[in-house]
Formats: sequence, structure tokens, C-alpha cells
Amino acid sequence: MYRSHTCGELRATHINEEVTLSGWVQKIRNKGFMIWVDIRDRYGVTQLIFDEERTPKEMMEQAAQLGREFVIQVKGKVIERESKNPQLPTGDIEILVSEFTLLNASLTPPFTIENETDGGEELRMKYRYLDIRRNPVKESLMFRHKVGMNVRNYLSQEGFIEVETPYLIKSTPEGARDFVVPSRMNEGQFYALPQSPQTFKQLLMVGGMDKYFQIVKCFRDEDLRADRQPEFTQIDCEMAFVEQEDILNIFEGLTRHLLRDIKGVEIGDFPRMTYADAMKKYGNDKPDIRFGMEFAELNDLVKGKGFNVFDEQELIVGIAVPGAASYTRKQIDALINWVKRPQIGANGLIWAKYNEDGSLKSSVDKFYSEEDLTAWAKETGANPGDLILVMGGNTDTTRTQLSALRMHLATELGLRNANEFAPLWVVDFPLLEWDEETKRFHAMHHPFTSPKPEDKKLLETDPGAVRANAYDLVLNGNEIGGGSIRIHDKATQAKMFDYLGFTPEEAKAQFGFLMNAFEYGAPPHGGLAFGFDRLVAILGGQETIRDFIAFPKNNAGRDVMIDAPSKLDEEQLKELHLQVKL
Ligand code: AMO
Repeated sequence: MYRSHTCGELRATHINEEVTLSGWVQKIRNKGFMIWVDIRDRYGVTQLIFDEERTPKEMMEQAAQLGREFVIQVKGKVIERESKNPQLPTGDIEILVSEFTLLNASLTPPFTIENETDGGEELRMKYRYLDIRRNPVKESLMFRHKVGMNVRNYLSQEGFIEVETPYLIKSTPEGARDFVVPSRMNEGQFYALPQSPQTFKQLLMVGGMDKYFQIVKCFRDEDLRADRQPEFTQIDCEMAFVEQEDILNIFEGLTRHLLRDIKGVEIGDFPRMTYADAMKKYGNDKPDIRFGMEFAELNDLVKGKGFNVFDEQELIVGIAVPGAASYTRKQIDALINWVKRPQIGANGLIWAKYNEDGSLKSSVDKFYSEEDLTAWAKETGANPGDLILVMGGNTDTTRTQLSALRMHLATELGLRNANEFAPLWVVDFPLLEWDEETKRFHAMHHPFTSPKPEDKKLLETDPGAVRANAYDLVLNGNEIGGGSIRIHDKATQAKMFDYLGFTPEEAKAQFGFLMNAFEYGAPPHGGLAFGFDRLVAILGGQETIRDFIAFPKNNAGRDVMIDAPSKLDEEQLKELHLQVKL
């Protein structure tokens, strides 16, 4: 038996018991006549004591030779500690070691395995198995497990069945590039790894599964960010005989349950906002509504006052930054420079201070009277002490730029409290999105999303204005999930492929299997998918999903631990019918 207890288990009530522990050496303090060793496992840390008077000499010597991260097994008696450590659950006791076995030695780890480590990110990724021994990483993985169990239990209780769908499939167009896998047995042909199980879950509805879910890996070859990984996990769901309202209710229920069970936060009905409103009020389809700074469109107030810069613009929009009227010239200049950086690309920023004494002062006093500025204050909802910031330009660009500034300011002002949770449904997304590059429409969500019946007639005349039965769940400014009510008849699906620029032959070649299935009694259906990594990270109070993934990829999409991707040898390439310039 390797152990009778874990390293996190023993308390004062165990005093005088004989126990066996196994674990890693966390720390050694050697005073010569006395050696203390902290032994660690997943459950905690326990102090061992070897002392000249009570420990055989040979064992004393063995203990003196231990190094950090050696794996040991000890037997001994639980005794009361002389100096107790109230910080540690096992801090009342220590083990007077009577038997000692070295199970495995360890090289000196390349970084300290403590809560605060001296290892850089890349180094920790290379030795991820050591990083996982650290409390923050270990706890994140345990937290992920807890959320996963909760999700599984909740959905199972709601009657959902978990069904596995294949990973070696044919490409599904979700907007990113596919990862492809060459086929040895089918020369010149490739599988694609699923960007999501979208078509399969729809086929499961045709198959009568009624309520499906899967916690499933998805693969997308896209540029990486803090909230994106090339392989990530979805809580993927689909239901038959449902309308949008049914889906929103079920998944609002799931999210509310998670917030309550895991965070102890009670949230009532989630607010809903149309896509159009989200863009107008926050310049963004995933607004963080934990704080205000809502956009105010100022065209009517600012145009025609002799300020040419504004007169020429399509949209002039402002926000009131709480308590920022006291910003110095230097602070304001820093904001102006921030929006002018290429990443944001704005031309500039106009400001107006609504001083505590009620007076108003702006960077464009030459054109706007105090009365004008009072109207700006009213429209932006500014109070005395606030700073009004205004930007102008093309509608879409200006909204995106001001939205970035809003988030930047919220972070700077400490308004993004990780312990506050503000979920929001964004609904009525456009069905189609114009792509300047290819000069054609793309499906905003995916090609299986149905148009709102009342907007269907616009498909012929104004496709860009057609709204979809599509929705996103947003949490604290992050897109946690998205879904839609699907098209479930062949004719509409064929028409949709046509709008998206597929010839009937292309549509048949790519999606014939789905269209065929629609000819055998497809029920009305819809669903959504949550980004599991994102959900876990945000519930865990963070926005970087990497910390919640056991073996993540770096920014270049590499696994630096196993060194992937890597080259294949000539033999393997030949077998796969591939010719690569090496
Ligand atoms: P969508 O593409 O919106 O929908 O994806 C659903 C959710 O998955 C998460 N997500 C990601 N998380 C980490 N890394 C990534 N690269 C990544 N890409 C997406 C997001 C997102 O909201 N089949 C549809 C769902 C449906 O219609 O039912 C789909 O995949 O949190």
C-alpha cells in the first residue's frame, strides 16, 4: 500500500496514529540535527520531521540527500507540531518518520513549483507536467472538472443524451479554416477535423434523438488570441420541436444553475438585447454590461456648427467616462495616442470635461458653446465630474473603435470586476454578412441558420437586412455561446446555399448528405454551443482560456512540450501519398 492517507488529510485528531504517505518533496529545511521535509500531492502538503535523537542515522543521511520533486514514501507517527502553521490545513501536525523509501529521484525543476513561480510562460508550457503540480494550474483543472460535471448532470437531468460524433469528417463551413488529415487508404483525399459537430447534431435530430449534448473537442485553424485555441471544447447541444424561446430558457437555466452552484451568485432573468441595439449602444455584439458608458449618437448636436471634421463624418458618437473630468492633459493625451495606435486606427478623439462645479470645457471650445456641451452631457448621461469622449467616422469603424476605448477605460478604471457576473442574450443577428474581400454574402452564424419568417421576403430585395433566428450568450463582455433555429427543409436550405454563392453542384457535393436527410422527415430543430473553455475561465474569474486547458498550444499554435506540429519522414509521407518539399 503506497499510502494510508493523502498529504492534505491529517489533522490534530490523527495524533499518535501510524500513517503512510506518498508524494513529492516540496521543500527541505536542513538544520543538521533536524530536517523538515514538506511532502506534497494533489490534496495538500504535510510536514515530515527527521531528528537526530529519534531518527536512525542512516535515514537522517538519506533525508539530507533529498532534492526538490523527489518522489518518496514515508511511514511514521502523527505528532503535534511545536510551532503550528494556521495557514495550512495540516498545520497542526507533522509526521515523525520511521520508514522511508525513495520511489524516484528528480532533476532540479527548471522553475519553482510554488504558487508564485519564476518560470516564464513558454518554459512552463514546455514542462507543463511540472506546471500542473502548481496550485493555480491544478486548481484550474479541478475547477474545469467541477463545471463539466455540473453541466453533464444538469443536461442529463433535463433529458439530454450525450452522443459522440466523429472527428474524421468532411469540412463544415463555420468561418474558420479546417485542419485536414490525409487518408492513406484513399489516395489524394483528406478528412477534415470538425470545427464543430454542427451537421452531425442536426442529423441526430433527423434521427429522432430529440435532445442531444456533447462536451466535445472542436478544431479551427485561425489566428490565436487569449480566448481562442486551435483545439477547444464546446458544450454542444441540439433539440427538436423547439423555438428560439425554448432554447434560450433551457440554456439560461443551465447558466443560472452554474452561477448559483459554482459561484454562489443568484441571477434573475437574463436581459436580452437585439444585435442592432448592442451595436448602437456598445459598438459591439458582445457588450460588457457590468458598467455603463453607453454610446450616445451626437450627429444632430454636433453637425453644422462649423467644425468640419464632424460635419463630414457619417457617425459622431460619445461616451461619458465616470469621474474622469479630473484627468490631466497627459492622461487625455495618452488616451488619444491609445486610439491612434494602428491596432485601433482612429484619427483622434474630442473631449469635453463636465467639471465638478458644473462648468464645461472642451478641446473644441472654438466651435461649441457651453450650451452645446450641456446638450452633449445630457445625451451621453454625463454627471458633474465626468469626461465626455467623442469620436467620428464611418459608422462600423467608429463603433468598433469607441467600443475598444470603452473596454480599455473600464479596465483602467477598475470597472471590470471578475466577481460580478452580467449575462446577456444578444438576439436577432443578421442572417448574412457582406464580405468586401470576396464581394459576396457570408452566413453570419452558419449556412444552416434560418431567417426570421417575417424577414424572408427581404431575401430578394435587401439580403443584408434579413434577421436570423440566431442568438449569442454573452457573459462579462465575452461570447460564451451561440446558436440558432435551423433550416429544416430542403428547398430553403438549397436557396440559402444559392444566396451564399454555392452552385447546386457544389452544394450537393458538400452538403448532399444533409439535404438528403431533410427529405426523410426532418423535425423543426435548433440548438447552440457554449465555448466550454471560455465559460470555465470566466467563471474562474479570468479571460485567458489557456490557464484552464491541461495542455494548451502557444500563440503560434505549437505544443512546445511535444514539439508539434513536426515533420514526417519520407516513408510516412509516401504512404500518405503526399509530396512535401523538405
Ligand atoms: P460558434 O462558432 O459560435 O458556434 O462557437 C460556439 C462557441 O465556441 C467558442 N469558441 C471558441 N473557444 C475557444 N477557442 C476558439 N477558437 C473558439 N471558437 C469558438 C465560443 C463560441 O461562442 N455550431 C455552432 C453552434 C450552433 O449553432 O449550435 C458553433 O460552433 O465561446
